[in-house]
Amino acid sequence: MSDSPAAAASDHDPKALAELAAEIAERAGARILELRAQGVSIAASKSSATDVVTAADQESERLIVAAILDVRPDDGILGEEGTGITGTSGITWVIDPIDGTVNYLYDLPAYAVSIAATVADESAFADGRRAIAGAICNPRTDELFVAWLGGGATRNGEPIHVTGQTDLAVALVATGFGYTVERRTEQAAMVARVIPRARDIRRNGSAAYDLCMLAAGRLDAYYERGLMPWDYAAGVLIASEAGATLIGRDDSTPPGEPFMVVGAPGLVEELRALALGE
Ligand code: IPD
Ligand code: CA
Repeated sequence: MSDSPAAAASDHDPKALAELAAEIAERAGARILELRAQGVSIAASKSSATDVVTAADQESERLIVAAILDVRPDDGILGEEGTGITGTSGITWVIDPIDGTVNYLYDLPAYAVSIAATVADESAFADGRRAIAGAICNPRTDELFVAWLGGGATRNGEPIHVTGQTDLAVALVATGFGYTVERRTEQAAMVARVIPRARDIRRNGSAAYDLCMLAAGRLDAYYERGLMPWDYAAGVLIASEAGATLIGRDDSTPPGEPFMVVGAPGLVEELRALALGE
């Protein structure tokens, strides 16, 4: 990380951005763990009654936004809980203050703070941005995953790598579900096609943490229709830097909200065809 706020503000070095993301993700992670010990309060619901926002989601987002702007006042920020700041530096931070909010509500350990520094790139992702640095902190499992473009990926400072699995029949595949009846009906049809043909399915409840587990070789592949930029920005970079391949719905649709598969290089195309029923 840069030594002074002025130096940090002019610094677009991916490694420095990843170090800043890591430091802030750990700070927010420690805070949400502290708040969890005091009990959870639901502040609002979003797309459906089951899509809740806790007071901790909101406090974590406020903490992250203030910490970024403190050292990089010219950057933009897009946050799951409503932050939308247009910057002038070319860097936009994409943040999920708690990914896996339902797990947080139930005190299940798969939740994480996700922070990515992104740049505009119309062709890379459906939302027109791509991460060049990112960090994901799961304070419940005491894990910090970090990556920057070209720098590899680490878990608690140690390099991590995706598996070399090539046989879908023995691949452990994770996915996730959205919150609306319409989206879940589509997702149920996809998972029904995948279950009989893979080793097994995991639905862990945090896309950001799933992508880290994929990066660390604890899963062979991940797919989902409907992920938002804050769910995947840092996680996809961490998985890619750990050796994963990323594809979208078809070769002319960039990965992102419409659909994405991330995984061991030998699996993703077969998994895509299977999930989409092609
Ligand atoms: C959700 C989780 C979940 C994924 C959903 C996301 P949230 O984010 O990442 O695993 O399947 O698509 O919306 O609501 O826990 O922040
Ligand atoms: Ca999320």
